[in-house]
Amino acid sequence: MTYEQAKALLEEKGQTHLLKYYDELSQESKEKLLKAIEGLNWSFEEDLKNPVDLSGKDRVISPISGLRLAEIEKRKAEFEKIGVEAIKQGKVAAVLLAGGMGTRLGVDGPKGAYDIGVTKPLYIFEAQMQHLKGVCQQCGVTVPLYIMTSDKNHEQTVSFWKEHDYFGYVESDVKFFKQDMAPAVDYEGKIILETKDMPALSPNGNGGWFASLQRAGLCEDLHARGVEWLNIYAVDNILQRIADPVFVGATIDSGVNCGAKVICKTEPKEKVGVLCMDGDQPDIIEYYELTDEMANMRDENGDLVYLYGVIMNYLFRLSKLEEIVDKKIPVHIVEKKIECLYEDGVTRKPEKENGKKFETLAVDLVKLTGSVLPFEVVREKEFAPIKNKTGVDSVESAREYWKGNGFDL
Ligand code: UTP
Repeated sequence: MTYEQAKALLEEKGQTHLLKYYDELSQESKEKLLKAIEGLNWSFEEDLKNPVDLSGKDRVISPISGLRLAEIEKRKAEFEKIGVEAIKQGKVAAVLLAGGMGTRLGVDGPKGAYDIGVTKPLYIFEAQMQHLKGVCQQCGVTVPLYIMTSDKNHEQTVSFWKEHDYFGYVESDVKFFKQDMAPAVDYEGKIILETKDMPALSPNGNGGWFASLQRAGLCEDLHARGVEWLNIYAVDNILQRIADPVFVGATIDSGVNCGAKVICKTEPKEKVGVLCMDGDQPDIIEYYELTDEMANMRDENGDLVYLYGVIMNYLFRLSKLEEIVDKKIPVHIVEKKIECLYEDGVTRKPEKENGKKFETLAVDLVKLTGSVLPFEVVREKEFAPIKNKTGVDSVESAREYWKGNGFDL
């Protein structure tokens, strides 16, 4: 894109301030800025004009039934057989969503490259691979792994995996793809300049993971391998069990389009999204959307009725994902502290929120699948999230869970 083309576009969009410093930039920076302007995704204009009503006021929420531990234990051998067979036939792939910025943990670079070890290095990516490699061994095949990154961490993620010999995988079974970026805007809808040669762009949330995977041409790879199920998971949880044969088997056996690993809430208002039904469709209700009455409701066994907290471990039927990929999923507009260029020419993060980011969420894709099986797991064995440096869901708490499972640190 030439300067003239960029100027014409930005005039039409009311965003000419992006070229404010153009004349003082080096040739290289000029090219960088023009490229960034050319690549801007303008769908935020529509999102600002017609924001999706996310209040959920029209929902008709009711509980969803799921598979509890006792039932899973009873049918474990049966489920495991189905799961192992599917994995052996190459029908299952893993997808790691690692495009986030990990701002709460506050590390530079990919969150998965964070070393949580005490006596020796243990990277989050490495910890997560332990279980997956165990499954590969059990089934005698490699479960292909697809890793979503973003412009902010792609190169570092790819080289980190290479440097660590793909944590025991072969290079051809690990594929990286980038998610889309979305511009951040101020309260007047103007795109924020992060530096003189770059608008503020950030990963557009984890909801677009399948569209990005498809755009990267990886669906052909999936089909060539005969994959039918995609197990997505977050980079946060070091006890994440991926391609767990029992879970895979139970999901296939139930005939649903999506299996969801869940933990049972320990208290009514625990801060997790909860699986439920909205009319005849599966849905996820956030903890702050549950009324006190709903949160405290119990069944005849004394269990909470809205019980199943999601842990971002979902098994999706590929054919369903392909069917729903073009459906618009809601864009969440979130106020954030966005690093920006100040009048003094310095880029800083403001003290308080200064604009809006646009994100889609993977949970919204879960709803679109139309049928979900909640599959209970033991919290202490499968849920050790790292969101923060200290305190709740932190490196410290995750280390305790890790050790509690008999693993070294
Ligand atoms: P979180 O919602 O915890 O976001 O992501 P985050 O960006 O990692 O962390 P904070 O909020 O900045 O502290 C849950 C999972 O979704 C991925 C993350 O990498 C993590 O595995 N994710 C999130 C993406 O892949 N892309 C995104 O745009 C956002």
